[in-house]
Amino acid sequence: MSTPSCTIFLQWALPRLRLRWPGFRKVRRQPCKLIKRRIRELRLEGFGAYRQYLEERPEEWELLDRFCRITISRFYRGQGVFNTIKDIILPELAQAATASGTPLRCWSAGCASGEEPYSLALIWQLELKARFSGMDTEIIATDIDGHLLGRADEAVYPGASLKDLPPAWRKDAFEPTGELFRLRPEFRKGVRFLQQDIRREMPPGPFHLVLCRNLAAMYFEESLQREVFERIRGRMAEGGYLVLGKHGRLPEGMAGWESWQEHLRISRAV
Ligand SMILES: C[S@@+](CC[C@H](N)C(=O)[O-])C[C@H]1O[C@@H](n2cnc3c(N)ncnc32)[C@H](O)[C@@H]1O
Repeated sequence: MSTPSCTIFLQWALPRLRLRWPGFRKVRRQPCKLIKRRIRELRLEGFGAYRQYLEERPEEWELLDRFCRITISRFYRGQGVFNTIKDIILPELAQAATASGTPLRCWSAGCASGEEPYSLALIWQLELKARFSGMDTEIIATDIDGHLLGRADEAVYPGASLKDLPPAWRKDAFEPTGELFRLRPEFRKGVRFLQQDIRREMPPGPFHLVLCRNLAAMYFEESLQREVFERIRGRMAEGGYLVLGKHGRLPEGMAGWESWQEHLRISRAV
């Protein structure tokens, strides 16, 4: 079963799942590997036969949808973005929250095994907490994949997942366990994980900071992106920030958002 056949298959199947091929072009190996395994398990001839199988069995689409999730993540991924969150966004939001006496609420949407929300927790605990003592913060993290969320609960990671973190943080926040690294409990307790499909469900707002990186803007087709970002907008606090990730941008002409740092793909709710 060749890669070109998988590409042709994905170009046919992804729009039927309301997903977009360009987002998958560079990472197609992950879904292709899982689809090929499924084809072998079903003892089918190849991608053409699997396509026919899908056309005859609507329930198989749910499995295909699961194969088409990209799960790559790591701590402090996109250092420029996290430095901006640390140096500008969170201090500004924390100041405003202190002045109004409200908790500061963040949401990591598509949080994989916790690398992204825990990076926010590290920023808060190691850099900002002392300056804003007494202020309540809440970090909610959602993902569709229960297995990844189980790993987030365990909070044990290979060294490669920590390579973008400032070295001192690696030392202060993790303890070695065999060849892996466990995030110390004090950095885990402020993060709440929920299993949710962002296409159907979202945690209640208001949020001051939402990270939706390498998910909707990357992999969802445009009409689905519009639905998702409209619902996210409805959960944003006025002036709150939305971080999309390097390859994402909001669909053209969406109301309620203004670009704040174009090169970092950060927008503000206005
Ligand atoms: C590529 S990872 C990105 C992880 C992290 N945001 C980052 O940028 O490092 C995409 C994550 O989105 C999750 N995901 C995919 N489809 C989803 C959906 N419909 N609802 C919620 N999460 C989803 C995947 O399980 C995966 O953990």
